[in-house]
Amino acid sequence: MKVLIVNGSPRGRFSVTLQSCLYLEKCFPQHDFDYLNVGAAIQSFEKDMTPALKAMVASDIIIFAYPVYTFLVPSQLHRFMELLKKNRAALKNKFVSQFSTSKHFFDVTAHRFMEDNFRDMGMRVIKGLSADMEDMLSQQGQKELRGFMEYCLFCVEKSVYDKAEPYIPDPLPDYSRSLSPVKKQDKFDTVIVADLSPGDTNLRDMIKDFDASFPYRTRFINLAEFNFKGGCLGCLNCAVTGKCVYKDGFDEFLRENILTADAIVYAFTLQDHSMGSLFKMYDDRQFCNGHRTVAEGKPFAYICRGDMKNEENLKTVLEARTQVNRGFLAGIATDAPSISAMSKRLSYALEQDYVPPRGFYGVGGMKIFRDLIWLMRGMMPADHKFYKAHGLYDFPQKKRMKMILMSILGAMMRKPFIRSHLGNRFNEGMLAPYKKEIDKLH
Ligand SMILES: Cc1cc2nc3c(=O)[nH]c(=O)nc-3n(C[C@H](O)[C@H](O)[C@H](O)COP(=O)(O)O)c2cc1C
Repeated sequence: MKVLIVNGSPRGRFSVTLQSCLYLEKCFPQHDFDYLNVGAAIQSFEKDMTPALKAMVASDIIIFAYPVYTFLVPSQLHRFMELLKKNRAALKNKFVSQFSTSKHFFDVTAHRFMEDNFRDMGMRVIKGLSADMEDMLSQQGQKELRGFMEYCLFCVEKSVYDKAEPYIPDPLPDYSRSLSPVKKQDKFDTVIVADLSPGDTNLRDMIKDFDASFPYRTRFINLAEFNFKGGCLGCLNCAVTGKCVYKDGFDEFLRENILTADAIVYAFTLQDHSMGSLFKMYDDRQFCNGHRTVAEGKPFAYICRGDMKNEENLKTVLEARTQVNRGFLAGIATDAPSISAMSKRLSYALEQDYVPPRGFYGVGGMKIFRDLIWLMRGMMPADHKFYKAHGLYDFPQKKRMKMILMSILGAMMRKPFIRSHLGNRFNEGMLAPYKKEIDKLH
């Protein structure tokens, strides 16, 4: 079989993910492996997609191999997916799967993003494999890798795949401005960060309506006008030295113009189940701040030109991003009533300093970061300092008293006569500290 590996890592031949594919090539010598380096050489595909399209059409199965980058895939691979669609790649009924390495921080949303795009192109999707970046170094990881390849080959041979129709949204009516301007105050600084092309009157009018209905001053930044030199290269230079290798000034721009704001509103046109590859480049390049939750406590909001109703994955990404930052998501507005409601929620969050606690996405995500930074603190000193200063090293092992108390309680509860004697006192004891807090109010 002809197996085409689409290497989406910007690290090219130095990619960790690629090593697993090279391992598979050696394990399966009866099949032909070929490689497309789209992550590292995206500029060449930007100029000419012909070699990529030819190789893809000629293959029996395409495996997209990539590192998970900021909840999704690297901006370079994201751009490649856009180019595939723009070029109307003839990939209908082609078998496709994906393999990623990461620390499992939102690997699921990355995989779902890719699957949705595969389906848009009518491809036959085989469920992918998400590995930890070190899995290949263990016997278990290698077994799982071989198992994945065998499973892919089985699915192609037996033509096993789920038939799922792509979701094609209905064209939206033009947006017509309807929100009346309110009086502006100077108390808070809100920045609107958009990906706005000159002809996009709909998104522009939505932004104008939001600005009219919002009672505080706003600043506008159009990412389409920022001269990005490229997407994050994954070189980790920033982690070690605090500086990005690109000299396009993005780090300072981000720190001085965006992160200084009291609230951040993002405005985008929904495309390919995402905010587009330019926004992805913006997200990836924020790696210059490492794993530090530098926007902590800020309210966030989104203005979206597009039909978000079926975009659960993107909604999850936006919600999760906010939670990891321990922020407040004031809304993802798609029409005038939702822009108006979002504007009110955002004002409320600013005025009342409303910051809800993290939920599962935020708590789970931060635990992954905590463990990662703890181990990599020698290489990521700025992250380590931040995690220490903000009490983010909340390892349960430190709670010795609680563990001892639970052991005593457990031993007591295992004795039936103690259990029967305790009656409701166990429940009462458990609630006592909560009651104490309530009683303080009297
Ligand atoms: C800019 C950037 C963003 C990343 N984002 C994530 C992420 O969201 N989730 C995760 O688990 N790992 C994340 N990682 C870690 C990579 O996925 C991981 O190191 C991967 O194995 C690198 O593979 P590669 O060498 O093939 O590029 C990120 C790394 C970089 C450089």
